[in-house]
Amino acid sequence: MSIPPLPDSSTSSATRPPSAAEPSPSSVSCSALAARLRAAGCVFAEEEAQLMISSAGTAAELAAMAERRAEGLPLEHVLGWAEFCGLRIAVEPGVFVPRRRTEFLVRQALDVTRPGSVVVDLCCGSGALGAALAAAVADVARAGPAHRESHGLVELHAADIDPAAVRCARRNVAAAHGRVHEGDLCAALPPELRGHIDVLLANVPYVPTDSMSLLPPEARDHEPRTALDGGPDGLDVLRRVAAQSRQWLAPGGHVLTETSEPQVAAATGVLERCGLSARTAHCEESGAAVVIGAKGTSGVQSGGRASEGSGR
Ligand SMILES: C[S@@+](CC[C@H](N)C(=O)[O-])C[C@H]1O[C@@H](n2cnc3c(N)ncnc32)[C@H](O)[C@@H]1O
Repeated sequence: MSIPPLPDSSTSSATRPPSAAEPSPSSVSCSALAARLRAAGCVFAEEEAQLMISSAGTAAELAAMAERRAEGLPLEHVLGWAEFCGLRIAVEPGVFVPRRRTEFLVRQALDVTRPGSVVVDLCCGSGALGAALAAAVADVARAGPAHRESHGLVELHAADIDPAAVRCARRNVAAAHGRVHEGDLCAALPPELRGHIDVLLANVPYVPTDSMSLLPPEARDHEPRTALDGGPDGLDVLRRVAAQSRQWLAPGGHVLTETSEPQVAAATGVLERCGLSARTAHCEESGAAVVIGAKGTSGVQSGGRASEGSGR
């Protein structure tokens, strides 16, 4: 849908100071922008209008943003960032937008992460999870009594198969001195990490193929299929990650994965069959479900048959 240029909020051009400078976005009426966004089907039009006005550099940029949003581009792709765990995460076009419900996974991960932990954000997309966990661990360490400058850091690695995601993640994990690798699951990681990962964040694609058509158009049309489609039962990628976890987790290490409520039992079974002890955590507020697998501290697996090797 095409929208006409936005009106200036000032009542009369005669009251405006004569200036050759580009009009600033704050000169645009928030309510006029919201009305246009609402007409294009945006439910949270006022909030979106405010975010766009505060993000755009010029009125022309703001008009272009409104146009893209009205065409159906996700708000985060229009803005170029998404809020996640209180951080502003860069999100480039074609890269999965981190969902607010996934903040619950990060909170669960914080419980099992310590300064110095080796953290891997597998299937990292924008790298939001790793960046947020690293920042949270640093915050907790800063607030603690025994704070030492370097002790607040985790060793962060992130990996994705999609070059666009890898580029984007590099921007987002830079503050945490994270390294981002490109490739298929754990095969992308430096071999020296094998057996040394303390926390494996794995928000893998988990939409069953048959349900892809039920996704909102913003996801279906603007996020890559490889970021969403988890195969016939939605658990194909998780099965591969679980099988690889056996070799890559440190003794006592954890893998955390988000899933949908109807998939919880099957996802738990996937981790258990790979010899991990599994538990689930649910967030009533967001409806998020996280399955957490732990490797025994002896490093010896309690059983289970992996459907795939280490991936290396
Ligand atoms: C659901 S998105 C999650 C992204 C990010 N973890 C988040 O929560 O915002 C899944 C990601 O997995 C990546 N992916 C899919 N298959 C992969 C594979 N075989 N190896 C590595 N990454 C993969 C996609 O490119 C996508 O970025």
